[in-house]
Amino acid sequence: MKVLVIGSGGREHAMAWKLSQSSKVKSIFIAPGNGGTHLNPKFKNIDLTNINLLADFATKETIDLTVIGPELPLSKGIVDLFKSKKLNIFGPTQRAAQLESSKGFAKDFMYRHNIPTAKYKTFKTSDEAHQYINEQGAPIVIKADGLASGKGVIVAMTEKEAHDAINFMLVDNKFGDAGAKVVIEEFLEGEEASFMVICDGKTILPLATSQDHKRLLDRDIGPNTGGMGAYSPAPVVTEEVYSKVINEIIHPTIHGMAKDGIPFTGFLYAGLIIAKNGNVKTLEYNCRMGDPETQPILMRLKSDLFEILYNAALGQLNSIKIEWDSRTALAVVLASAGYPENPKLNDEIYIEDRLIPDSYIFHAGTIFKNNKLLTSGGRVLAVTALGNSIKEAQSKAYEVINTVKFNGAQYRKDIGYKALNNN
Ligand code: AMP
Ligand code: GLY
Repeated sequence: MKVLVIGSGGREHAMAWKLSQSSKVKSIFIAPGNGGTHLNPKFKNIDLTNINLLADFATKETIDLTVIGPELPLSKGIVDLFKSKKLNIFGPTQRAAQLESSKGFAKDFMYRHNIPTAKYKTFKTSDEAHQYINEQGAPIVIKADGLASGKGVIVAMTEKEAHDAINFMLVDNKFGDAGAKVVIEEFLEGEEASFMVICDGKTILPLATSQDHKRLLDRDIGPNTGGMGAYSPAPVVTEEVYSKVINEIIHPTIHGMAKDGIPFTGFLYAGLIIAKNGNVKTLEYNCRMGDPETQPILMRLKSDLFEILYNAALGQLNSIKIEWDSRTALAVVLASAGYPENPKLNDEIYIEDRLIPDSYIFHAGTIFKNNKLLTSGGRVLAVTALGNSIKEAQSKAYEVINTVKFNGAQYRKDIGYKALNNN
């Protein structure tokens, strides 16, 4: 079988890595891929991002399954387009992907279907938004309605920060259309976790639990990032929390979408916030897997990923069982100097040719140019390792980091600390 993976990050590298372990898969194309996928003879990078050109490519190459990493092609309707050309693709339609591409759509949906989430109001004009902030006070959370490359959420600890965020989005239009509408919501306290499922429109297959580390610096300080590290499983998702999530969030979401006439097929990611009393609320939906959560999750997956996704795309997920390695996997992201504000590019990356068992270096912002591996983005690599405990996985991941060097590399030294505290 021939598979096309769309995207260029660590998540897509991990997907391709796992798909390549299937005996059924003969070739894997990645569009556009990165330096790491380029260097691996099992994969072929294809320099395309336009969805029409990708559909032409998939037709010409008779691709048997297309898997999408990031949200952007989903929000542009890649699934609708491929399906109209009878191409087999796994992911949500453009309408279903609104769960991620419009915060307003997602919040209205959650309210309509009684899915626990923060109280909110939606605004298009700044006067009303400023007045609402004056009434509610801080802390308060301001979210651009549309996709804003992970920068659209401002957790304002003071009213001034909240007013500034409104001016940024509604007055100065800094996010363009994505910020022409904003959601203002109640600040929630608790521990975050990521909960992902695979769905074929009817059957739901939960993936292993995980936890991301969104802030740049140790102990969760500094600016928000795409994610600086993750591990799986997440002990904060106890059995009790797990059943709450399935019953109060995942089932009502999938059934609610079907009831609204927008059946959901694809990866559904619920960003959770778990309060001290065990109550769980939904912070956000994503219609794709998380990055870097995918890297540790797929390292723990024992089943054949191709078989799972191929059957899911055909609406036959009910025939699939999923098996996990009981060990913990942990990924640490190495970011370039200046990330997230102003990532420095084109630094040469040196990786020692030393294999450490049960570990893998997934590439993200890397490019292979003039016989050199160079940084080409903010998040450069995700070093991922398995261990019998969170501590062992952590020590191994940091051991692997010592085999990698580039100028200005920055990474957190405490990935997994919450799980260590929980044990
Ligand atoms: P989102 O993209 O909606 O998940 O938001 C990005 C990050 O902002 C989340 O991972 C949280 O850390 C934080 N956040 C979002 N919404 C809230 C909220 N209502 N209360 C507290 N923090 C939030
Ligand atoms: N790591 C968080 C996300 O992928 O949205």
